[in-house]
Amino acid sequence: IKTIGVLTSGGDAPGMNAALRAVVRTAAYFGLDCFGIREGYNGLIQNDVLKMGPRSVKNIIHRGGTILKSARSEEFRTKAGRQKAYDNCKALGIDSLICIGGDGTFHGAKVFYEEFGIRVMGIPGTIDNDIFGTDQTIGYDTALNTAMEAIDKIRDTATSHNRVFFVEVMGRDAGFIALNSGIATGAIDILIPERKDSIEDLFATFEKAEKAGKTASIVVVAEGEELGNIYDIAKATKNGFPEFDIRVAVLGHIQRGGSPSCADRVLASRLGYGAIVGLMKGENAVMTGMISNKIAYTPIEEAIKKHNEIDKDLLKISEILAL
Ligand code: F6P
Repeated sequence: IKTIGVLTSGGDAPGMNAALRAVVRTAAYFGLDCFGIREGYNGLIQNDVLKMGPRSVKNIIHRGGTILKSARSEEFRTKAGRQKAYDNCKALGIDSLICIGGDGTFHGAKVFYEEFGIRVMGIPGTIDNDIFGTDQTIGYDTALNTAMEAIDKIRDTATSHNRVFFVEVMGRDAGFIALNSGIATGAIDILIPERKDSIEDLFATFEKAEKAGKTASIVVVAEGEELGNIYDIAKATKNGFPEFDIRVAVLGHIQRGGSPSCADRVLASRLGYGAIVGLMKGENAVMTGMISNKIAYTPIEEAIKKHNEIDKDLLKISEILAL
């Protein structure tokens, strides 16, 4: 390999800049050329690229978002769009593409490799933590801490007013942020798509909480929860417990921003380095992940298809500790 292209795509995640920095500096260390591609695959189609060296990534390790900007490219879903992207890669001499993002990003990378034979390497960057082949994705730890801090603040006001709060956290179809932020903030219940929840079980938990003398409660709800939307769940609870003073808080995109945590910066640095080293060793169409604290390469196809399981012990722990 001689020339790398690197892009960030899909929903941004804190730590993407740290990963970009690691890619660019490791590439320079090994004498490889590197192009940064702006706005995900759109930049590849529109030839919106910049030559990057160690100084182009100064002062970004601590910054949220992504200096390359990100997008979910519609045009890259078309063959014509990918053809333009390939033509630009060829003209620039890009032989390997490092794609930092989530499963949509990896899907694009896989199709691009299959059609045009460009080497691709994924780096998992998403707050959702829903990628197989890595214990954690870049951005997840920061998002988790943001959610935890926000819920702590909600707890203060919930306690002062003897209120029940339903708090929605992000995660798309996955409940990792919900389960872990719920445990960290002492939620009385946590509703996640990976478990079949019922309104009866939720009510039973409220009844137990009332009997135990609890005067304020927090229920963390994953945005992908299948029982229903958070407002409907709150409404059903009000019908079942008219005496409850209920509020809903949707945390939303604050979970995607902010300075990356130490864990995310280190993870991003290791994965960015691992991506370059992997490509140099001949890895292709794989994702660089971290499994049991070691760099591991997983075929992109598997990373997209398989899913990390929710830890059953964590579910049990959340129930035992809630009341
Ligand atoms: O994948 C990251 C994520 O923040 C999900 O948690 C959420 O469902 C989605 O992206 C929101 O996407 P958008 O930025 O398009 O609102």
